[in-house]
Amino acid sequence: MTRQRLGVCYYPEHWPESRWSQDAELMKEIGLSFVRIGEFAWSRLEPRDGEYRFEWLGRAIDALDRAGLKIVLGTPTATPPKWLFDKMPDMAALDADGRPRKFGSRRHYCFSHEGYAKECDRIVERLARIFGAHPAIAAWQTDNEYGCHDTVLSYSPAALRAFRLWLEAKYRRIETLNQAWGNVFWSMDYRSFDEIELPNLTVTEANPSHLMDFRRFSSDQIVAFNRRQVEIIRRHAPGATILHNFMGAFVDFDHYALGEDLNVAAWDSYPLGFLERSSHDDDFKLRYMRVGDPDFQAFHHDLYRACGRGRWQVMEQQPGPVNWAPWNPAPAAGAVRLWTYEAFAAGAETVSYFRWRQAPFAQEQMHEALLLPNAEPNEGFHVAARVSRELAALDARVEAARASVALIFDYESAWAWRIEPQGQDFAYFDLVLSIYRGLRRAGLSVDVVAPSTADVAERRLIVAPALFAPSEDFAQALAESGATILLGPRIGSKTADFQIPANLPPGILQRLIDIRVRRVESLRPGASIKIASEGVFVRWRESLALGESVQRELTSDDGETALARSGNVFYLSGWPDEDLLANVLRRVFDDAQLSTLDLPEDIRVRDNGAMRYFFNYGPNPTDISALIGDEALLLGERILEPCGVAAFRRDDCRTAAKL
Ligand code: GAL
Repeated sequence: MTRQRLGVCYYPEHWPESRWSQDAELMKEIGLSFVRIGEFAWSRLEPRDGEYRFEWLGRAIDALDRAGLKIVLGTPTATPPKWLFDKMPDMAALDADGRPRKFGSRRHYCFSHEGYAKECDRIVERLARIFGAHPAIAAWQTDNEYGCHDTVLSYSPAALRAFRLWLEAKYRRIETLNQAWGNVFWSMDYRSFDEIELPNLTVTEANPSHLMDFRRFSSDQIVAFNRRQVEIIRRHAPGATILHNFMGAFVDFDHYALGEDLNVAAWDSYPLGFLERSSHDDDFKLRYMRVGDPDFQAFHHDLYRACGRGRWQVMEQQPGPVNWAPWNPAPAAGAVRLWTYEAFAAGAETVSYFRWRQAPFAQEQMHEALLLPNAEPNEGFHVAARVSRELAALDARVEAARASVALIFDYESAWAWRIEPQGQDFAYFDLVLSIYRGLRRAGLSVDVVAPSTADVAERRLIVAPALFAPSEDFAQALAESGATILLGPRIGSKTADFQIPANLPPGILQRLIDIRVRRVESLRPGASIKIASEGVFVRWRESLALGESVQRELTSDDGETALARSGNVFYLSGWPDEDLLANVLRRVFDDAQLSTLDLPEDIRVRDNGAMRYFFNYGPNPTDISALIGDEALLLGERILEPCGVAAFRRDDCRTAAKL
């Protein structure tokens, strides 16, 4: 088992060469192991077309290597230089209004532009050829945060050409597409694939099937773009570890699909920025403004663990105020350490801080780093040093056990309900996260997984809310899983073509539970439907017709089935508030015979292999003795301070975590 390690993101091209060795030694001194470099350096690697300047990068790598650091080398394709942009101005993505996204920041390219893709092949090839065999390079990062700044969808001529080919490959015959999209409606029938446009600038909403295929296509373009880089790197550096840094609350392409081409999934964790940008109300934001949402990071750790098929890390960890949220508060004392341990507890191989030294220039000059702009240590520097000492003392290893609980998260479903929300606030991501929160508040460790057959095997509980169009295989795997299953609103309510199933929702899942959804309604903010004394539905509720084998477990005050049950399968017919969710989950946990914990409000727990971790996201010291029994703590105290972390190792845990 590998050791848990710390890292940092570094931009040697921002600082005088005379400083590099000193930086490297300081990184080493505080216990950092990995340094990511290079991902935005194209204009310094190739200042003019074909004029390569790779020597400085070689010297930077050597300086880090001499200090005993390992390097994650980024390909620079997120920031094509000006000469390249001028050479082919049509490489710009076009926004939904048809306007080009100009040079002057980053990510100014369209994933479908073949000319740009070839330029990327060239620069990646050269980098990989020169540095592929360098012993200090531990991993490669492709590009940077695919899709950041809303760059997945492009309405360019290049995208249009590629979309038509994609559609033709998928449907073969135009009649098949017309049928699948229901183009008889509003006389939208096409005579050939060449007639199809991108779904923007239509008079009113475009056909949802058209929109869905455009999203699938756009996602595939990113996967293909990434794969080109992966193949080039693998050619020159066989056996290299290749990763990409994904984002938080970002669903615009299928991360599972892209992850299949990687060795490790990484993500960039900015808890305070994400909280400020979230849809939580002001009370929640004020309560957690310096520690972040107690469940948001953990959810992503679990999701990206799935994307990396078990191997994942944090590539960018917020160390102080960032610059990009509406408000940018400082983390509470201890919060950066807390976030670091949350990640390790979830099986991260590395936590890497963003960035080493605060830039005094350009867009991110207000973004804190481990060092101040004048190179004096800032708070994050001392946190990293402390955590690294602790990890050494703990001799902490990367561990991860299969959780008994699986929560299904699906990218197509996120697109589907964006395309057709039906109620303005029906946000798939928020629904899944709220259920995750309910599971975690009961002290359960969760695997967030794709709707795939392998992922549902060997679970005690499977929770699947709002899954757009479950496949035949997945429905079968659920039916055969033997687990307790909680299906949520809107599940199975469409076919893959984006049509209502012939047998009504939940479509093919009727083989698990014999119900038909006859009506759905969305509820404006402030409106709710009471479910006896158990809580309320908000945002969304459905009216069900029940087959004979189905029982009503909960009924709304206006007489509809709120929770239906058939054997070990439950169906929740609306969007639950916190109380209702907790009450529904309690029933489901009983059925699954899962033992839960009675946690104080802001305490969270994570089991990882033999380790059990506790985290305090609240403002008050909290006595967790009752949760610890007579175990000896390896980390932390029984009175857990705000931002405190405690951990113990229990011998029976390894078997208990498994079934
Ligand atoms: C990330 C990005 C970094 C930097 C950082 C600032 O999204 O990958 O390059 O911009 O945000 O928080």
